[in-house]
Amino acid sequence: MRDFLQRLPKAELHLHIEGSLEPELMFALAERNGIDLPYASVEAVRAAYEFDDLPAFLELYYQGMSVLRTAEDFHDLAMDYFRRAHDEGVVHVEMHFDPQAHLVRGIELDVVMEGLNLAQRHAERELGMSTALIMAFLRDRSAEEAMKVLESAAPYWEMIDAVGLDSAERGHPPSKFVEVFQRARMLGIPRVAHAGEEGPPEYIREALDLLDVCRIDHGVRCLEDPDLVTRLRDEAVVLTVCPLSNVKLKVVERMADHPLPQLLDAGLRLTINSDDPAYFGGGVLDNYLACYQAFDWSRETFVQLAGTAIEAAFMSDARRLDLH
Ligand code: ADE
Ligand code: ZN
Repeated sequence: MRDFLQRLPKAELHLHIEGSLEPELMFALAERNGIDLPYASVEAVRAAYEFDDLPAFLELYYQGMSVLRTAEDFHDLAMDYFRRAHDEGVVHVEMHFDPQAHLVRGIELDVVMEGLNLAQRHAERELGMSTALIMAFLRDRSAEEAMKVLESAAPYWEMIDAVGLDSAERGHPPSKFVEVFQRARMLGIPRVAHAGEEGPPEYIREALDLLDVCRIDHGVRCLEDPDLVTRLRDEAVVLTVCPLSNVKLKVVERMADHPLPQLLDAGLRLTINSDDPAYFGGGVLDNYLACYQAFDWSRETFVQLAGTAIEAAFMSDARRLDLH
């Protein structure tokens, strides 16, 4: 089954590129930039990756990215991930990135965009992969700041495939960002949002009704609201589910408790993704394998999940035809 899943052409729709920073690269970039890390070794970094919840993870995630300073750093970060994903049989990667997490450290948007965009072109040329860019707003910061970031990204609107909403979910409902997402819509930029990871089903409804998103990132808590599940099925909304992330952040206790089988039984359109692979114990292939081990799914089920990801991806019709 491992060989089959490795060879299956997979698209990844939910990845935070800053969450793909492996401890080895963290140390290499710290040295290149003359930064002292609060860890003695790569092993010490890995040992620190035990989280009680999303906020506990986010603290380490924002700290880890302090080594990213130059366009070259962002390029190397993304290429490092694209190569690993390519080895796992991933043919298309959509990467969220968090401009505000860099702006607050004095790293300009131009630096981030230059590095990530160069990596996108390299991935296409060297690895034959397609990629997309999702500019995410940090929901635990103000909507005014998010609007400023969207406006200041004007030179890059053409290069941004979607805007997203991430960071600490509880207490930061999608309704807070209505104007920002309306503006993105006016600009013709598609929209996605994290909802129903730690937050209640109501946040999924708000993301659909108020932010007009085309996909929900996570969304697993929809099961607490049967009417919402019916709506998600009827409207064929795609959920980008991240099973190993949900275990690591204690959204569920063990893979065996993960609601993926119920979500599938409910007829929802699902995809399997890694979220923050450096922190959560593996990439896309590891997430597929964890599902196989926990649920003993058939090849057909995995073909269906991989097919849904390609259908729901931000990619050209020509590329989609190529992959189907
Ligand atoms: N940013 C990085 N990973 C995230 C996650 N799993 N949920 C919300 N925000 C994030
Ligand atoms: Zn995420």
